[in-house]
Amino acid sequence: MIVALAAANRDRKYWGEDANEFKLNRPGVRNHIAFGRGSHTCAGAPLARAEVRAILNAFFDLTDDISISQEKHGKPGARQYKFEPSFIIRGLESLHLDLKAKS
Ligand code: HEM
Repeated sequence: MIVALAAANRDRKYWGEDANEFKLNRPGVRNHIAFGRGSHTCAGAPLARAEVRAILNAFFDLTDDISISQEKHGKPGARQYKFEPSFIIRGLESLHLDLKAKS
């Protein structure tokens, strides 16, 4: 049996009809299972979180104007993305962004 953790994080029965949307302020967001759960919870989760925090802080020091590339992904409401062919991790093959440097 193979458990697809990425599917659980998008389970409408648990998260509601908007389960597929990216919402930083989603109620109960800490209940996601991207790092697993129980005795085999990801041992590197605190390191992974610290790394991402450092990366995003450095990133937002340089820009606060970020938008998804319309040229590469289409117009809002009709975006198109390619995902890695994996049932273990749900990851984009690429994400094209338009950034403006902070003045
Ligand atoms: C965003 C980054 C990461 C994600 C999404 C992630 C995800 C996961 C998941 C879902 C599991 C549980 C697998 C299972 O149920 O069998 C796991 C286990 C584990 N992860 Fe990560 N991981 C990440 C980063 C890291 C890092 C940076 C390290 C080490 C420096 C690490 C070390 C481990 C170890 C040692 C386990 C096995 C824990 C055990 O079986 O007791 N992970 N990870």
